Amino acid sequence: MNRFKNSEWAVEARGLVKVFGDNRAVDGVDLNVRAGTIYGVLGPNGAGKTTTIRMLATLLRADAGSTKIFGYDVEKEAQIVRQLIGVTGQYASVDESLSATENLVIFSRLLGLGRAEAKRKAAELLEEFSLTEAAKRPLKNFSGGMRRRLDLAASLIAQPPLIFLDEPTTGLDPRTRNQMWDTIRRLVNTGSTVLLTTQYLQEADELADRIAVIDRGRVVAEGTVNELKASVGTSSLHLSIQNPQDMVEARHTIEQVLKVQSTVSPEGGKITAPMEDADKVTDLLIALREQGIQLVELSVQKPTLDEVFLTITGHGVKEDTSKESNEFNKVEVRV
Ligand SMILES: Nc1ncnc2c1ncn2[C@@H]1O[C@H](COP(=O)(O)OP(=O)(O)O)[C@@H](O)[C@H]1O
Ligand SMILES: [Mg+2]
Repeated sequence: MNRFKNSEWAVEARGLVKVFGDNRAVDGVDLNVRAGTIYGVLGPNGAGKTTTIRMLATLLRADAGSTKIFGYDVEKEAQIVRQLIGVTGQYASVDESLSATENLVIFSRLLGLGRAEAKRKAAELLEEFSLTEAAKRPLKNFSGGMRRRLDLAASLIAQPPLIFLDEPTTGLDPRTRNQMWDTIRRLVNTGSTVLLTTQYLQEADELADRIAVIDRGRVVAEGTVNELKASVGTSSLHLSIQNPQDMVEARHTIEQVLKVQSTVSPEGGKITAPMEDADKVTDLLIALREQGIQLVELSVQKPTLDEVFLTITGHGVKEDTSKESNEFNKVEVRV
């Protein structure tokens, strides 16, 4: 595998377009993913995330544009590219009557592992994904979350240098989601590159080195999480005071020191104000103490990714957690 690691870029996509009827599902997407990193493609339902991944992974032909995976062209060198990538969901047609162990052993054998090695690998992966207890159960008795984990486990048998994860945690409970995050971090620590899509702003924030925000088939913002947050502008001050009677005076003080307008949260009690300069917080604390205003809580925060998305696209993010199934079930391999 070493010869593949020489490329600095795991993914270089230029001007990708996919049109379904009169719907430009993907409308000129560029993506650059540096090898050894986690890259997040963030966008609401229907933004074009799955369609983009399927083009990158040789599963769908682009109408325009080109993609290189570790320097190999997905159109002209699809066979090499397929050896370099893993896609969650590509093993969706597993045998329902067989157990998790049996399924993983079959995939391992298909990939050329010996019998003992295949068994060892299956056991190791089931342990990693907390599926050891369910190892002997037939797949038809698995929950959606268990299937998702087995699916990721299956795609990791070959330990591909580049792993595509299409909404790996959509619909998972928080505990399983955290396990997935740990696994994804471990994959990258052991040398893989991960490109994941998500509708969860927090997920991109937690995991990704860089993020592309995608909306209606276009990349509307790209950068590190901090760059994206910074592009939205100021930090914001959040402050709660001890005595409600001090509210008017507290706001007056804040507005004088920071030279901005403050707002009070609808529930009352919490004052927020934009801040250009986090350093001003010292002046503010001194002024508040001189007034005898006691604080319960004070924080200076960067804008949340929700605020970032709203600012960039002009509309918020509707999360869709109703879908349990993975869209890679609709795999079509072109020839
Ligand atoms: N096979 C297909 N045929 C027709 N339209 C499709 C197909 N796949 C996706 N679309 C449409 O393309 C757009 C983007 O879909 P998709 O890539 O699945 O978005 P996301 O993964 O971000 O939710 C949507 O409007 C969707 O309805
Ligand atoms: Mg999708």
